[in-house]
Amino acid sequence: MAKKEENNLLNKLVSFTKRRGFVFQSSEIYGGFSSCYDFGPLGVELKNNIKKEWWKKMTRMHDNIVGIDASVLMSPKVWEASGHLTAGFADELVECKKCHHRFRKDLLEKNKCPDCGGELTNPKKFNLMLKTFVGPVEDDSAITYLRPETCQGIYVNFKNVLQSMRAKLPFGIAQIGKSFRNEITPKDFIFRTREFEQMEMQWFCDPKDADKFFEYWLEERMNWYIKLGIKKENLRAKETEKNELAHYAKRAVDIEYKFPFGWKEIEGVHNRGEWDLLNHSKHSGQDLSYTNDEGKKFTPYIIETSAGADRALFTLLCEGFKEIEGGRTETTDSTKEVETVLDINKKLAPVKIAVLPLVKNKEEITKTAKEIFDMLKVHFDCQYDESGSIGRRYRRQDEIGTPYCITVDFETLDNKDVTLRDRDTMKQERVKISELGGKIFNLLTS
Ligand code: GLY
Repeated sequence: MAKKEENNLLNKLVSFTKRRGFVFQSSEIYGGFSSCYDFGPLGVELKNNIKKEWWKKMTRMHDNIVGIDASVLMSPKVWEASGHLTAGFADELVECKKCHHRFRKDLLEKNKCPDCGGELTNPKKFNLMLKTFVGPVEDDSAITYLRPETCQGIYVNFKNVLQSMRAKLPFGIAQIGKSFRNEITPKDFIFRTREFEQMEMQWFCDPKDADKFFEYWLEERMNWYIKLGIKKENLRAKETEKNELAHYAKRAVDIEYKFPFGWKEIEGVHNRGEWDLLNHSKHSGQDLSYTNDEGKKFTPYIIETSAGADRALFTLLCEGFKEIEGGRTETTDSTKEVETVLDINKKLAPVKIAVLPLVKNKEEITKTAKEIFDMLKVHFDCQYDESGSIGRRYRRQDEIGTPYCITVDFETLDNKDVTLRDRDTMKQERVKISELGGKIFNLLTS
């Protein structure tokens, strides 16, 4: 994709997501806060739906994966054991001697400052963890960190879960939660931010089975994105070179998506070996080994699937955002303009059903529409909209990916039925009010 076209699509997405309430810049009324974003009314629904799908797939659909929700703040000893406090979790930074802007050395194309052309310093290591203090005294003993990855909360609870759930290897622990990294070059909208949400699953297994499970989980996770509607050709698995592996990894494969600004990681599948459990055993003095049914004692290997919830959302928006010049064939409006359709998996759509009275000045029609809205909102995310022409209201719903629009019209009053319009085909069928709930349930779960 040409550079101009890429920026164009990204700019369009930034303005679309703001205009329709998906993503806002953090602290915008104060001029914004660098690299932090807020999810608006539709964004939070979309993200919740993505997380719900992930959780269902990773826990309910697997007999031997359970979930936890660990705290963001943990003992600082965790970060000594995990290697994050040492040079293992640091970027190499260079600073411009003229404008003092800092850059990640590995992302620089030239040896000059990209902002002012000034000379750069030699690289220095910069730890990415965000430091904070717990308690009233801000001295060294009160320092801790906002977690840079959720998985450490899983490792320190390995024994608790093993015992309380009477688990046997292989088994997994899943978690969704916020993580924080003091990124030097946050960029590309919500792609790289300092606060982000992870969906991580840690699979504990016998070391001899680790390679087999790595392949299994890589395939499972690729298929998850494809099933959600991401085109195969926009996904790829990229092996990380040995010299670029994170400090904990024996092997890492990135699942990448073809964003408007290039191929970028949306999930990592890692073989972390015995790194985490062994180090936590050493630092805590607790035995985190496992004894199998044959009496063999060993430290389990960990295969990790680490996905970004915000990145999954961004991926779905990039993939689903479509602009149709001149509009689609069905239009009741006199002017044909560019129509936007968010072609997103129906299960994930932030609004599932829009209930639309054909006219707003006939009380029997609006009353019936509101009754239908009240009936359906118990089970589905619904919107009620009576303003503007029916064509405009369909367009507004198409734009945010609403799969179904229900229109209450004059026929409804006699026949107790409505039109049910499909976002993608724009086909309308008449459905009895009494059958609407079951019909939509079947459509959304098929
Ligand atoms: N837990 C691995 C990562 O955050 O990249």
